Amino acid sequence: MPINDFLALARHQLAADVRALPQRLSPEGRVAARLDRCLNVADMRRLARRRLPRAVFDFVDGAAGDEVTARRNIEDFDRLTLRPTAMTGASAPALTTTVLDQPVAMPIFAAPTGLTGLVHHEGELGIARAMHEAGTIYVLSAMASYAIEEVVAGTDGTSWLQIYLWRDRGLVRELIARARERGFGALVLTVDVPVAGARERDRRNGFGIPPRLTLRSLGEGLLRPAWSSGFVRRPRMTIANAAGRGGGPQSAVGLAEYINGQFDPAMSWRDLAWLREAWDGPIVVKGLLTAVDAAAAVRAGADAVCVSNHGGRQLDLVPSSIAALPEVVDAVGGEAEVYLDGGVRRGWHVAAALALGARACLVGRPLVYGLACAGERGAAHALHLLTEELRATLVLLGCADLGELAGRYAQPISLLRSENPRTKRGSADESASDA
Ligand SMILES: Cc1cc2nc3c(=O)[nH]c(=O)nc-3n(C[C@H](O)[C@H](O)[C@H](O)COP(=O)(O)O)c2cc1C
Repeated sequence: MPINDFLALARHQLAADVRALPQRLSPEGRVAARLDRCLNVADMRRLARRRLPRAVFDFVDGAAGDEVTARRNIEDFDRLTLRPTAMTGASAPALTTTVLDQPVAMPIFAAPTGLTGLVHHEGELGIARAMHEAGTIYVLSAMASYAIEEVVAGTDGTSWLQIYLWRDRGLVRELIARARERGFGALVLTVDVPVAGARERDRRNGFGIPPRLTLRSLGEGLLRPAWSSGFVRRPRMTIANAAGRGGGPQSAVGLAEYINGQFDPAMSWRDLAWLREAWDGPIVVKGLLTAVDAAAAVRAGADAVCVSNHGGRQLDLVPSSIAALPEVVDAVGGEAEVYLDGGVRRGWHVAAALALGARACLVGRPLVYGLACAGERGAAHALHLLTEELRATLVLLGCADLGELAGRYAQPISLLRSENPRTKRGSADESASDA
């Protein structure tokens, strides 16, 4: 290229950059640039790690024990095989579906995440607004830092309420009454927390409610002024829906100590029957991994089940959610809707889960990482990335809608470790016949 052309091009580029500078340096422009650099959920996780104090990032990112199940949740998606069909003419797939008869714009909704206000002062409200804006469902955690009434007043869309079985059934009854009064679309009963999981990162960091101020946390806060200013000016660090009940959330007890003191470790399917009497709307049971449990949940009155291991945060070494999904779908798929959460980090993970029989996926950490990056806008960006990946996946698979995914595309390999084709003798034949 002659030097004059090169200089003219450089001058042109520089002038455009200078003109765009005020916009790029504005608070709005800085957020947009920050999010533009996040091309996927993994980028958002890296950015969240930089922006949050370690104890807060670890609370979100961490899991139980050696975190094997948390890793499996993600890695087992990599073991699936999608099978495209060419030349179907499906160029603009429909992502709409219904969950429990409620229409949603995409088969992705927010998993309940407690104490989200520690991550960003917008907390649950930020994620709920992002979900509703996109036309999908927000599941508010019983352990949220925003109260039921605040979320309803500050958002405009469908929310479901997740509950635990507190020993104090009066509190559970009260939550149900508040959910009914505020028009929540479903109750989600989480059944995998009879006691707290062994989350060693939290223990090592001395994580508590509210967080303890130590020299280290002070130093970390100073190094992260964006997080600290929100946290100090608009603190959100108690379990808002149980405030004043049970004493725990108001004091600096560890999260595990709170759970072990407050939740009923002796819960059984009889309690679901009790809940069925107390709540006349749909009930989702979250935290099942086996056909036996899914069948018991449906017998006791569940309208839907969510295959979940709590993001690996409860019992380590249990199967990944995607590995457990097929047996649950086989057991109850004809009678109840089946959802999946755990390890969904890509739109094609959602496609694979739907191909294996899930009706929808819930996502936990991806939205919380997004919240850490830029509040509501960050959560919206995380959902947008997953949704656009899902849309592109459907086009590439040749599916015109989500219904066409069912059973057609995920190669039915078993995800049980003992049957890993790389380690099991004689498995070459098995995988050949699968193909
Ligand atoms: C920070 C955080 C808080 C959570 N709090 C709750 C909760 O209060 N209730 C609940 O049922 N599950 C809770 N979960 C589990 C999620 O609902 C979901 O099962 C899990 O995050 C899914 O895995 P993923 O993070 O890989 O998407 C929480 C998860 C995280 C990461």
